[in-house]
Amino acid sequence: MAFALLLRLACACVFYVTVCDAKLCRGAHDLKAEYDYVVVGGGTSGLVVANRLTENPHGKSSSKVLNVLVIELGDVDDGSPGTLVPGIQTPQKYWHTYTSVPQKGLNNRTSQLYTGEVVGGGTVINGMFFNRGSALDYDAWEELGNPGWGWEDLLPYFKKSETYSPATPQIQAQYPASPDLRPHGTRGPVGSSYPPFSFDQIRNWFSGWASLGVLVNPQPNAGMAVGAIHSSLSLAQPNVSRSSAADAYFRGEASQRENFDSLTAHRVVQILFEGKTASGVEYAPRNGSQTSHVKVSREVIVAAGAARSPQLLQLSGIGPRELLTGLDIPLVKELPGVGYNFQDQPSYYIALNLTKLSGPIPAWVDPTSDVYHEKYAEQQLALYYADREGAYTMPYQAGSDVAFLPLKNVTSDYAKVIDHAKTIDIDDISPSGTDPSIIRGHKAQVNILLRHYASRDTAVHESTFNGSPLMIIVALKPLSRGSILINSTDPKTDPQVDFGTFTHPTDVDVLVASLKKIRELLNSPAMQELGAIELSPGHSVQSDAEIAAALINSTLSSWQHPVGTLAMMPEDLGGVLDPELRVYGIEGLRVVDASMMPIIPASHTSSTVYAVAEKAADLIKASQSESGQYR
Ligand SMILES: Cc1cc2nc3c(=O)[nH]c(=O)nc-3n(C[C@H](O)[C@H](O)[C@H](O)COP(=O)(O)OP(=O)(O)OC[C@H]3O[C@@H](n4cnc5c(N)ncnc54)[C@H](O)[C@@H]3O)c2cc1C
Ligand SMILES: *[C@@H]1O[C@H](CO)[C@@H](O)[C@H](O)[C@H]1NC(C)=O
Ligand SMILES: *[C@@H]1O[C@H](CO)[C@@H](O)[C@H](O)[C@H]1NC(C)=O
Ligand SMILES: *[C@@H]1O[C@H](CO)[C@@H](O)[C@H](O)[C@H]1NC(C)=O
Ligand SMILES: *[C@@H]1O[C@H](CO)[C@@H](O)[C@H](O)[C@H]1NC(C)=O
Ligand SMILES: *[C@@H]1O[C@H](CO)[C@@H](O)[C@H](O)[C@H]1NC(C)=O
Ligand SMILES: *[C@@H]1O[C@H](CO)[C@@H](O)[C@H](O)[C@H]1NC(C)=O
Ligand SMILES: *[C@@H]1O[C@H](CO)[C@@H](O)[C@H](O)[C@H]1NC(C)=O
Repeated sequence: MAFALLLRLACACVFYVTVCDAKLCRGAHDLKAEYDYVVVGGGTSGLVVANRLTENPHGKSSSKVLNVLVIELGDVDDGSPGTLVPGIQTPQKYWHTYTSVPQKGLNNRTSQLYTGEVVGGGTVINGMFFNRGSALDYDAWEELGNPGWGWEDLLPYFKKSETYSPATPQIQAQYPASPDLRPHGTRGPVGSSYPPFSFDQIRNWFSGWASLGVLVNPQPNAGMAVGAIHSSLSLAQPNVSRSSAADAYFRGEASQRENFDSLTAHRVVQILFEGKTASGVEYAPRNGSQTSHVKVSREVIVAAGAARSPQLLQLSGIGPRELLTGLDIPLVKELPGVGYNFQDQPSYYIALNLTKLSGPIPAWVDPTSDVYHEKYAEQQLALYYADREGAYTMPYQAGSDVAFLPLKNVTSDYAKVIDHAKTIDIDDISPSGTDPSIIRGHKAQVNILLRHYASRDTAVHESTFNGSPLMIIVALKPLSRGSILINSTDPKTDPQVDFGTFTHPTDVDVLVASLKKIRELLNSPAMQELGAIELSPGHSVQSDAEIAAALINSTLSSWQHPVGTLAMMPEDLGGVLDPELRVYGIEGLRVVDASMMPIIPASHTSSTVYAVAEKAADLIKASQSESGQYR
């Protein structure tokens, strides 16, 4: 999640250098002509898979060294403070911004999608929440025709990816943060832990929720991700610095492996085929058009993220027939679902005034605001560098405290919301010409999701509080679906992002209920101790219709969690990937990133992406022993 309030901290107090030795920054001319595996995208998932495939140089059962090449559009990050210090905004040069097509559910407003374009991808710039969905969220993947993808199957991979460190005793005494290691890993690459600091007013927020009968949940990572939680973060201990995929799976030993090559600042522009078998990739410098190609003997592994992976498949001839023939792209495999089933979580910002709060608020708040304490910010940053204490140990974007609520805990009118949802015909809300398989898949998902809406074991509502006068409400399990489709054969042109926000009216109903719930919270004695006042949408906005209008006027389509555009589902439900993440009808081509999720979990997405990629690596290794599978 990214705050609308962006601050450029004028901190020139630390000098840093670009860490980039000969092997990391090799050019195209240093590459081999052929690799066993080429990974497209050195982001979150791509680095996991490349690391795991190269960690045992002899593969599973052959004596041949398996060589892996990662091609990444971005650069290696420069190790500057914004990439490491949680409280400093991440450098804009690693962000890519897509602007959507006008959203008809948002009065034709456009909305932004942000992604990371840098080695490590989203995890170099993200808000650092490191939490999992509920067991039901993953069991739904299995239910959609994917054996081996339920919660119990994924739990070992969540563990494998992380080293979890409990919160300090002081934090444990004041906040719900379980030291229970059972659902956690303690030897994995990604640091998962808690800042040693919090703002006192966040305790009012927990008390407020508790007074409304909301569960204060110290253990949200064991399959019941509901309640008011003090979230673990992707934070490495003992350094108290961001733990990105670049740090966890790439920098250091892995990047120096003889069998692990990487090429940065280059874009894969096309997957090459011999018949229906992926045989290599074509790539070009990021800003150039001079292409080169590299051969692949085993698999092309696509990990370009939920926006660019469907773009690449479409450019390569895998996708909806009409779209590709309209652009004169020769069809390699017709797959109507490529780019559809796009999901993100719509978010709405509620501006507050905490009129009785005199103490500090997050130091990185807009310096132009009347509550910014410049002296406090300077002092806290010095404290961070000296002792790894203080406000800068908390993430810049949204802190670490969130409420995940089931619909039944948001509104006593939950049955009305669900009954209304049942009257909506997916055929009527799908764009005309939508392939019937996609509509069948959407209906199958809505059936499952409405069961989730009636359950107390998974959430539909997220809201944040980081101690500043702002709360964000998020619809975690939207019923709307969008698409990401190319409109040009130029790989440098962004694909068209259509979130489909609020095309299913239930998503508005859920956020209306959420806003009303936040008003109850603001009126609780604990929040009134802070003198909480709602500034926007404000008290003139009262009836459900008025609240809905305010939401439609200002909701953002994204919570920076794009998923689902190459869904792992049966082909006849509009799916693109089989349960081994292989593209239907093609040999030697897998997708391992957030695009594979059939339904978005009620969670932030990075820890799920890591778990999925860890499992993908095992699936790929397992198939190495099946001799003869790849030529
Ligand atoms: C601003 C922001 C805030 C977020 N906050 C949180 C949070 O607090 N908690 C959380 O859990 N999640 C958060 N997320 C989401 C999380 O980071 C992502 O879900 C996750 O990183 C996605 O991983 P991925 O492997 O699917 O894609 P990415 O990590 O995006 O990796 C894709 C990579 O492929 C590269 N690439 C793309 N196209 C090509 C091409 N053609 N050739 C070569 N390379 C290519 C890209 O440059 C990128 O590095 C946030 C994301 C963002 C952007
Ligand atoms: C949005 O745009 C569509 C197509 O241009 C138009 O038909 C519709 O009236 C617009 N809606 C609003 C609220 O402006
Ligand atoms: C939801 O409400 C029920 C009934 O009051 C309560 O038992 C449960 O703990 C609540 N769940 C959450 C996540 O707040
Ligand atoms: C620890 O954090 C500092 C920034 O405060 C950074 O310079 C250093 O590289 C980090 N060390 C590791 C191992 O991440
Ligand atoms: C490459 O393009 C990016 C934007 O796409 C731009 O910021 C950068 O300056 C360009 N670099 C060069 C060397 O042209
Ligand atoms: C917030 O409340 C304080 C105290 O009443 C007041 O001085 C300040 O102007 C208010 N700020 C905003 C943005 O309303
Ligand atoms: C294609 O889509 C992109 C991204 O939305 C947009 O900038 C561009 O104008 C579109 N081009 C055409 C020809 O429609
Ligand atoms: C609509 O959005 C605009 C721009 O964000 C804002 O200024 C205005 O107050 C909003 N109106 C309503 C009714 O929410």
